[in-house]
Amino acid sequence: MKLTQDQVKRFEEEGYLFLPNLFSGQEMDILNAEVPGILATKREEVVREKGTEAPRSAFYVQTWNPVYERLARHPRLVEPGVQLLGSDKLYMHQFKINAKAAFDGAVWQWHQDYATWHADDDMPSPRAMNIALFLAEANEFNGPLMFIPKSHRKGRLAAGHDVTTTSYPLWTIDHDTITRLVKEGGIVAPKGGPGSVLLFHGNLVHASGSNITPWSRWIVYLSLNRCDNAIRRFKRPTWIANRDFTPIDMLPDDCLLRYKRQGKSAAE
Ligand code: SIN
Ligand code: MN
Repeated sequence: MKLTQDQVKRFEEEGYLFLPNLFSGQEMDILNAEVPGILATKREEVVREKGTEAPRSAFYVQTWNPVYERLARHPRLVEPGVQLLGSDKLYMHQFKINAKAAFDGAVWQWHQDYATWHADDDMPSPRAMNIALFLAEANEFNGPLMFIPKSHRKGRLAAGHDVTTTSYPLWTIDHDTITRLVKEGGIVAPKGGPGSVLLFHGNLVHASGSNITPWSRWIVYLSLNRCDNAIRRFKRPTWIANRDFTPIDMLPDDCLLRYKRQGKSAAE
């Protein structure tokens, strides 16, 4: 899927691009049918919220679920990355489903992803980005992603290692800096139904609040990196910071529907 010149320009200026309803209801049904089972799985890649059994993130799902193996190679998600990152050789730095579970979903503090990719993984440059696909609706109540538009233009900002607030350690930005950035750029929270896609720059400052609604806010994230920008430190496990730098081999656009038509079950 090719982005228009106008969309590319908007991404470069604002640091993100929102594409509502990019996947059909049928495709979303195929993806969503897998999620309860994935989040209930007891394995180290499924991280729980601090102090509860509620799922926070399921990592590396593309390696242990065949439907998500396909999604990780989906051209509607990978091609925009190829276009925006300027290379047809991209690999999956990280792949996760964030559950933001009904009643229990906890915050993600203000941060830039590249701060963590740089500090923990020694990624050479911010030529990496996120492609987020909403599995469930994200609305104003259930902890939608919040962005500070244009903040990616500030480059990598100073960050401190937060290992206490949530179950997932993150390099986060202090309140004074966030206050200053928000005065300049404001905050946006793109909201939409399942099948909507959000693309955002590795240096865009973002966060999300907790979810005390009855609506889980499932989002799947592809963090794509250029193969010539591969990480050089292997401190984090490969299921968090992938060490397999094989270029993504895209599948046809109907790969999810085809999977269903072949009558496969997730166990195959
Ligand atoms: C992230 O920043 O990696 C996740 C934020 C969210 O899912 O709310
Ligand atoms: Mn992030």
